[in-house]
Amino acid sequence: MSEYRVCMRDFEKEAKKVLPKAIYDYYHSGADEQQTLADNTAAFNRWRLHPRVLRDVSRVDLSSSLLGQPISMPLCVAATAMQRMAHPDGETATARACKTAETGMMLSSWATSTIEEVSLAMTSSQGVDGILWLQLYIYKDRELTLSLVRRAEDAGYKAIFLTVDTPYLGRRWNDMRNRFKLPSHLGMSNFSTATLAFSGGNYGNDSGLAVYVTKAIDPTLSWDDVTWLKKHTRLPVVIKGILTGEDAAQAVKHGVDGILVSNHGARQLDGVPATLDVLEEVVGAVQGRVEVYLDGGVRRGTDVLKALALGAKAIFIGRPVLWGLACQGADGVTEVLELLREELRLAMALAGCQSVSEVTRSIVRRQDFISRI
Ligand code: FNR
Ligand code: LAC
Repeated sequence: MSEYRVCMRDFEKEAKKVLPKAIYDYYHSGADEQQTLADNTAAFNRWRLHPRVLRDVSRVDLSSSLLGQPISMPLCVAATAMQRMAHPDGETATARACKTAETGMMLSSWATSTIEEVSLAMTSSQGVDGILWLQLYIYKDRELTLSLVRRAEDAGYKAIFLTVDTPYLGRRWNDMRNRFKLPSHLGMSNFSTATLAFSGGNYGNDSGLAVYVTKAIDPTLSWDDVTWLKKHTRLPVVIKGILTGEDAAQAVKHGVDGILVSNHGARQLDGVPATLDVLEEVVGAVQGRVEVYLDGGVRRGTDVLKALALGAKAIFIGRPVLWGLACQGADGVTEVLELLREELRLAMALAGCQSVSEVTRSIVRRQDFISRI
């Protein structure tokens, strides 16, 4: 019998026990010294909640929306690659859990299930009734890239999340030491050749994924490519991986439909700020023209509340979903989502917020740790 899991730490502890070391390392690692990895979670402790009281919180409404799609809570699932390493059902299990939770799922370009399989896992007799978005990596081969976009459009996906922080893969020391690659029975299912599917192959004395990215992904990416993508799809385009107000303003100028403040779970450039610390700067630059979301280090309901208060329209989680999958497949992901939902509901109630629209900037203040002489 599995242990009684009361918080996200319990899921990670159990996942670490059941996953092979190289897989846990890949999922868990940040880049280089992992300074930003530690900071992503620590940043939430630098903000304090300032609750209001006597506000009748017998009912708390968590419902929200993302790009016009209703979601049952402002918490969604970020793209994490290769989920079948965590559980045989992989991304289809995550999709089922998201459907049950009535929230959205961002599918990685590098999923170990196809775009179509995942859409099917969200489909009932009435048609696709879950919310799916495709996370896109732009390949040197632009036809291949557009074929992923077409497939997502055809399969009922609601938006493209274009990842812009990965022209090369960050240096993840454990993956280099482990010479990380996919277990031989798996592949990145959206691709038809073994080379593109990162399946088998010899990647030398390095992280196999880093070698793959250098070979396949287009490092020339620039703002013109955002315009190019917008021209080639009727779906909304969200930019994933913005960390400055300047880039946020550029993104708006290039007609994006949303901005996800993300440092890729601290797996790319080590030493960048925690996402929570730059959220206000981005929100300020955007001035309400598009929706702003956040991911990175969110592990508790109070973290979600703080990010909402600082202006995020929705919050995404990456690793917690992998821990849920590793513990118990689709049921494990459901448990993770319901745990965070309950924590958020309680945090909102205790902070005096009856609904997401009542979560305002005034309920958080930055804790000043610097002593004044
Ligand atoms: C990721 N992330 C990611 N991002 C992306 O755009 N495409 C991808 O395929 C992946 N794959 C991936 C794998 C793993 C194992 C991790 C941990 C992360 C980044 C992800 O979408 C998200 O930005 C972070 O995971 C958010 O941080 P937390 O919640 O993991 O702290
Ligand atoms: C990673 C890639 C898949 O972070 O985005 O490992």
